[in-house]
Amino acid sequence: MPSIEKHAETSLNRTGKDYLVLHEWIDKDPATKVERHDITKIHEYGQKMLDQYGKEGLQEYLQHIHDDLLTRFGHVKEDLEKSIQDTLAYFGVTSRPKKVFPSEYETLLDDLELLRKAGVSLDDAVHCQRVCRKALEIASKVNKPMNYNLVARGGLLHDLGKARGRADDHGCLGSEIGRTMGLPKDVLQIMETHVKAGLTPEEAREAGIPEKDYTPETLEEKIVVYADKLVDIIYSPDKVVESETEAEERFVELLSSHPKLAKSPHAGLRHINIYREIQSHINVG
Ligand SMILES: [Fe+2]
Ligand SMILES: [Fe+2]
Repeated sequence: MPSIEKHAETSLNRTGKDYLVLHEWIDKDPATKVERHDITKIHEYGQKMLDQYGKEGLQEYLQHIHDDLLTRFGHVKEDLEKSIQDTLAYFGVTSRPKKVFPSEYETLLDDLELLRKAGVSLDDAVHCQRVCRKALEIASKVNKPMNYNLVARGGLLHDLGKARGRADDHGCLGSEIGRTMGLPKDVLQIMETHVKAGLTPEEAREAGIPEKDYTPETLEEKIVVYADKLVDIIYSPDKVVESETEAEERFVELLSSHPKLAKSPHAGLRHINIYREIQSHINVG
């Protein structure tokens, strides 16, 4: 929740007056604080504000309540908007995105259709879209040259193999399906290397796929791995974080303390190494 000072600063920027007394009246006394934020009291308190501070004061009182609600529930609104867009896009009913990478979007819609045709469920397709969006967001912050189109397509298609199963072989299964569909080699590579942040030859043998090292090599592969794990954290049914920023900030701690998120101790460590590498490219100016 914004502090009293923050509310006063916002009022000052909006009206030229800080309305500090008004914000203190709403926030300061713990005994009355809850009641003074009660939206069913808006008419009663609104009249009081109008009498005491005039129209502008009434507006600042309402704005205070509004800003608090937005801080508390803003992410719910964002989540809902995102899910609606994800679901619409799955069925091919979508408007073009207004901002990044517009020229690539036609390909992405085709890729989404490809997921659907291959038999990927709606839930998994929504996950893939989230990973695609998150991967592009990370890519835009990384100070290194890279292939954004590959990041987007890799993010969207990384779980194509979930059309056939959810085990550790789903990266290779996806790559097989993708090969028959004529997808480029670098996209297939992203599917193969994303599982558990890169299976070792031994883990590959256990998973029943060709015994080799699946370590992600390119920046694009690593970004998809990182985005995939962030999305797992953000949308975890256990609700381990409150925001996307928190998932990034507490990444290492969360993977170390939640075996379900890490999937295995080795995979957890690999994720943390990739996280550190990517963060080092983000922090360098
Ligand atoms: Fe996956
Ligand atoms: Fe995934």
